[in-house]
Amino acid sequence: MINIAILGYGTVGSGVVEVLSTNKDSINKKAGQEINLKYVLDLRDFPGTPIEDIITHDYNEILNDESVHIVAEVMGGIEPAYSFTKAALLKGKSVVTSNKELVAKYGPELLAIAKEKSVNYLFEASVGGGIPIIRPLNQSLTADEIYEITGILNGTTNFVLTKMDKEGRDFDEVLKEAQALGYAEKNPEADIEGRDACRKIAILSSLAFDMHVDFEDIYTEGITKITKKDMAYAKAANKDIKLLATSKKIGNKVYARVAPVMLDDEHPLSHVNGVFNAIFVKGNVIGEIMFYGHGAGKLPTASAIVADVVDAVKHLSKNLMTFWSTKKMELMSIDDVPVSMFILAKTDFYSAAKDSAKKLFGPIKVVEVIESEEEFAFITDVKTEKEIANLIKLYNAEPSIRKIISSIRVEA
Ligand code: NDP
Ligand code: HSE
Repeated sequence: MINIAILGYGTVGSGVVEVLSTNKDSINKKAGQEINLKYVLDLRDFPGTPIEDIITHDYNEILNDESVHIVAEVMGGIEPAYSFTKAALLKGKSVVTSNKELVAKYGPELLAIAKEKSVNYLFEASVGGGIPIIRPLNQSLTADEIYEITGILNGTTNFVLTKMDKEGRDFDEVLKEAQALGYAEKNPEADIEGRDACRKIAILSSLAFDMHVDFEDIYTEGITKITKKDMAYAKAANKDIKLLATSKKIGNKVYARVAPVMLDDEHPLSHVNGVFNAIFVKGNVIGEIMFYGHGAGKLPTASAIVADVVDAVKHLSKNLMTFWSTKKMELMSIDDVPVSMFILAKTDFYSAAKDSAKKLFGPIKVVEVIESEEEFAFITDVKTEKEIANLIKLYNAEPSIRKIISSIRVEA
């Protein structure tokens, strides 16, 4: 029998308890021994729940109990999660986690401690909820040189964008629903401002490109400026708007970006809706491969946590090496990244607005959604971000333009 402890009895923590109970026999069989949940740490008591007798408010009780070999950290945030994780690893306990904020910031350091202590720090649940992606990057795709990862990595924002688009619902109302369903972060700004997806693409890029990608270096935009009008224009251009997290090699440089993107409706990621996430990976020998599944939520995330617990049980005193270099990668400046842009302007002079767009941007594709002459929308050719930004400034100053109201990147 092996004793484990859970830190945090929230959405994911309670899911872990449920999964361990629902699939008890098969999990124990796969682990090769019985997994016994000895403690759950939380700030609150949970009377009347299955964990009322094993709840503790004192982390030292877990840390100093030598019979506990595995800790599942599902509290979230940096502190005290970082101190608790580090202390557990230093005591020779394996730690599994869904905490991408912590993994993105301290992943290399915590992995090094785990290696030194011959235990494991596993974080499959930190990216893509229940989707296996960390293990494939570490194991199944090691024959490849990966040159692109593009993913829908945040369930909350994909849920919000899908409901706005397909059901015409309002941003705030759908965000509240995502919170009630347990998809959103404690502070949902991390979701809607793109910071959660940014941490996830930093983790994936660090594993894929064998250098440390600092999440703070990644250009990040959220979905708060996306309107139903943008979605109508996207439809008219046979596109869908998705929050994409991308890292891509161009020559010997890598760029990384999180931003809403108008995706061609032929692109496999454009069909990923609701809380689903998907990660599209391109490798030089495997070609294109896509991982798809529930990107957030209690049970899918708990499934990944419990699978990591099983792996930790199977490798109790053996470190499963995870390639995460401490050498920091200098990312390509966002200014130099090639991009094509959808631009929507308010105008009182439709033809003049069109002429100015052609004069400044060169070849454009006009997008028409309604008969109104008060708006002019178009998609530019590919140019660098810097060129596009300069042209947008010039276009905004044209006499025919009242105001540019949207600019959204476009991908074929
Ligand atoms: P919740 O807020 O639902 O759960 C966290 C739990 O930990 C709460 O019960 C909280 O108590 C408790 N807690 C916080 N601080 C402490 C502390 N110092 N000591 C003891 N207990 C503490 O979060 P989630 O379950 O949604 O998320 C947990 C982690 O998993 C986060 O890192 C999140 O990003 C990640 N994640 C979440 C997913 C999801 O779908 N929800 C999916 C994938 C990853 P209290 O409520 O009283 O503060
Ligand atoms: N808040 C996150 C999301 C949870 O919505 O994707 C899963 O990491």
